[in-house]
Amino acid sequence: MGMSSAWNSVGAAANALEKATIGNLFSQNPARATSMMFSAGELLVDFSRQKIDEQALQALVALAKHADVEKMREEMFSGVAINNTEGRPVLHVALRMPARESVVVGAENVVSEVHATLGRMANTVERIASGTHVGSTGKAIKHVVNIGIGGSDLGPAMAMRALSAFAVTGIQAHFVSNVDPTDLAQVLAHVNPHETAFVVASKTFTTQETMANAQTAMQWLQSGMNVADVQNHFFAVTARVDAAVQFGVLAENVFPMWDWVGGRFSLGSAIGFSLMCSIGAQHFTDMLLGMREMDEHFYSAELQENVPVLLALVGIWNRNFLGSASQAVIPYLQELARFPAYLQQLEMESNGKRANRDGELAQHATSPVVWGEPGTNGQHAFFQLLHQGTDAIPVDFIGAARTTATALNAQSARDQHRKLMANMFAQASALAFGSPASTDVPAAQGEHRVFPGNRPSTTIVFNELNPRVLGQLVSLYEHKTFVQGCIWGVNSFDQWGVELGKVLAGDVLAHMANTSLETTLDHSTRVLVEWFLNNS
Ligand code: F6P
Repeated sequence: MGMSSAWNSVGAAANALEKATIGNLFSQNPARATSMMFSAGELLVDFSRQKIDEQALQALVALAKHADVEKMREEMFSGVAINNTEGRPVLHVALRMPARESVVVGAENVVSEVHATLGRMANTVERIASGTHVGSTGKAIKHVVNIGIGGSDLGPAMAMRALSAFAVTGIQAHFVSNVDPTDLAQVLAHVNPHETAFVVASKTFTTQETMANAQTAMQWLQSGMNVADVQNHFFAVTARVDAAVQFGVLAENVFPMWDWVGGRFSLGSAIGFSLMCSIGAQHFTDMLLGMREMDEHFYSAELQENVPVLLALVGIWNRNFLGSASQAVIPYLQELARFPAYLQQLEMESNGKRANRDGELAQHATSPVVWGEPGTNGQHAFFQLLHQGTDAIPVDFIGAARTTATALNAQSARDQHRKLMANMFAQASALAFGSPASTDVPAAQGEHRVFPGNRPSTTIVFNELNPRVLGQLVSLYEHKTFVQGCIWGVNSFDQWGVELGKVLAGDVLAHMANTSLETTLDHSTRVLVEWFLNNS
């Protein structure tokens, strides 16, 4: 069977289910609620409320086999250059391998480099926290501001928020990403230069937003303390160590990252330095351990029991066979407020592509729009559309058995957490099974009171959000993204689609500086720039 007949088999399974509802899939199979529940690490993942059955799942697993998911997985873990458009290996999994493992790229064992870097990071965090490393005026560093964007921001910013209950060092981490000066200004309003260090996080060390913020931060430090030498207030994470040193960061304060780590897969690298500054080296190691546990599961579990593979396949099912153009992710944990934004980059920058690995147009629709907000907040905002809108939008619900809100009275925290989870279970149920209009409503409200149901969701639960569980969750979605990329046939590890806007922004800036020079900018852009220049 070739790839297209594998797609056709899944299509046949979808046709067979055309008239099915999630409700009658449950009545046909009394074991469904437990038989579609899978576990990996601490995570329990329930697919029973997807509009899918055993036959469709088998056809999807066959599709994954035909798409060479297992071969690509082997190649990824062993350092083959599967990022074919850039000729690079894809080794975020090496960031969490134990020191005894080895993956050789060029002549280097990258796992040794990873552990050497982790050791240096831990040592630096210890020196900052203990007051051995002090600022220019001899004060201990209390605030660390990460300056980075995209993959050099979203991972650590998301994880910092997720793990704030595990902050132990007394160093507060802040995140500035946008070139909008208000982003930096809002953080700087709450810190003082004597006690503040910046981490310039940029793989390329050329990103306009990051360079602009770093430059402004340096001036703020110099004028705020009235000193020229602010070297002790700067750290950098980059694959261009020379560029960081040239910017003014001491070589000993620069942590390397490597070409074989994609920005959106880099949370486990030194990009997590600001996170480590706050949660300490042990909790950071626990997060890596969680990632590694999911990596091992992904590497060794059979496809039909492999949770990242199943999450990917259910996504393919919804996208390509049930026609869903979007995917909501709703964490019922306020700590995971930035998790949807993190996933937006992970999934949409990886798989939002129309060309396949061979440079031809992709045969099937690729990444859906990924979006979401924490529950219960979303319930009072966009859930109306999820329940009664004209599109059925699949949802990933994420929840925990216990809260990390330890600063509250324990009983109140438990009671509120129970309410939170009751809402999550209720929403998934309402989406799946709906409810007809009751007969005692006024006639004019008839259809308005109907909940059609049959709206798919996956539920991911665990006991408590801690560094290890967060690591498993991140790795779960990383591997989901990888598997979907394999099946759609796209290279998930480049991002050419961000380039044109960068070039044009440079052209617009040049035009703003001198409008009398000849420009290739289009007419409508020139009109708007003129408005801007007249009003700014
Ligand atoms: O412009 C997109 C992008 O290249 C992302 O892929 C990346 O995570 C982000 O910019 C930041 O890049 P850098 O770490 O090189 O500053």
